[in-house]
Amino acid sequence: MLAGLPQMAGAVPGIPERGAVMKAPEVSRASSAPLTDAVTGAFSYSGAAIARELLAHGRQVRTLTGHPERAPAGSDIDVRPLAFTETEQLRASLTGVDTLYNTYWVRFPHGMTTFDVAVDNSRRLFAAAAAAGVRRVVHVSITHPDEHSPYGYFRGKAAVERLLTESGLSHAIVRPAILFGGDGVLVNNVAWMLRHLPLVAVGGQGTYRVRGIHVDDLARLCVDLGAGDADTVVDAVGPQSVTFRELVDCVRTAVGSKAVVVPVPGWVMPPLTAALGLVLRDTLLTADEYRAMADGLADSSAPSTGQVVLTDWVAEHGARLGRRYANEISRHFATTSPSSGRGEGR
Ligand SMILES: NC(=O)c1ccc[n+]([C@@H]2O[C@H](COP(=O)([O-])OP(=O)(O)OC[C@H]3O[C@@H](n4cnc5c(N)ncnc54)[C@H](OP(=O)(O)O)[C@@H]3O)[C@@H](O)[C@H]2O)c1
Repeated sequence: MLAGLPQMAGAVPGIPERGAVMKAPEVSRASSAPLTDAVTGAFSYSGAAIARELLAHGRQVRTLTGHPERAPAGSDIDVRPLAFTETEQLRASLTGVDTLYNTYWVRFPHGMTTFDVAVDNSRRLFAAAAAAGVRRVVHVSITHPDEHSPYGYFRGKAAVERLLTESGLSHAIVRPAILFGGDGVLVNNVAWMLRHLPLVAVGGQGTYRVRGIHVDDLARLCVDLGAGDADTVVDAVGPQSVTFRELVDCVRTAVGSKAVVVPVPGWVMPPLTAALGLVLRDTLLTADEYRAMADGLADSSAPSTGQVVLTDWVAEHGARLGRRYANEISRHFATTSPSSGRGEGR
């Protein structure tokens, strides 16, 4: 961990501290058949971690996904389409499900896929869950959702939270700021730039903080919350808050980069990342993502709900980080995905 960085830990009301045993979602005692949970995106990022955690608890996992071809060979996961407008099919896919773990969202608008569409899709998903008799929904949101936010992502996430709370479904809302670990995009692509570019720009002085949580810590938190029945909202944040500049410097050291890190005025970042995105055929960082981070929305003062320390993890995984660029467009918007651009190890 970097010297001088705060270590935050403590109990979250309604959530056992790490290491405490919770009413674990085990195999049903009333029946010999394991209970089935549904996870959106079990072959993508956080959904894959949640699915692994559920399988480790002896649950059967069904996934709703737009990428069934990403199922690993021999996967036990029951695959259904993530088809929001197919109301009957969606209800049928959720029938017999105990808990729905919902990771669905879009990182940025692209083509016909806007945040409003994603809100409407979420509404359809919750309606189908209610109609199918799903017992509980664990919903992955974002820190600081706000229906009056200047940022569409945060407005949309607040709208989806409201839809869930008004749905009558038993729910837990889990709010991460930034995920790391596995094949996450952000840290990997910072590493990729530090490996491949002579200069890497940081907006302002990079003094805004990020409070990441390891994707496996997020998954454990979600599965713990799935076992409960109280309506809950919790920030999913790891034990460490670092400034963005500290994170970049930590990644630079971990990957052995000689790149010069250059502070630039904040207004330079959106056009700069847009230009780099054109070269990479990706959306590297949207203007809203940069501004929201610079506004402090990727930080939280909540007690830690994770264990893995971001900078420790970066130091440990430096050899693998940023070897390949992780392309968001090919992950989620390409009609076929010969390469998902997944690069990191857990
Ligand atoms: N990643 C982060 O750093 C981060 C930070 C804060 C909050 N979050 C929140 O955490 C949740 C999960 O994020 P994640 O990074 O783990 O996402 P992900 O695995 O990449 O995707 C989650 C789900 O959304 C679907 N999806 C994503 N983009 C889509 C698109 N353009 N069109 C249709 N479906 C799309 C995926 O479909 P497929 O099954 O077809 O892949 C998957 O089912 C989201 O709600 C996000 O807002 C993430």
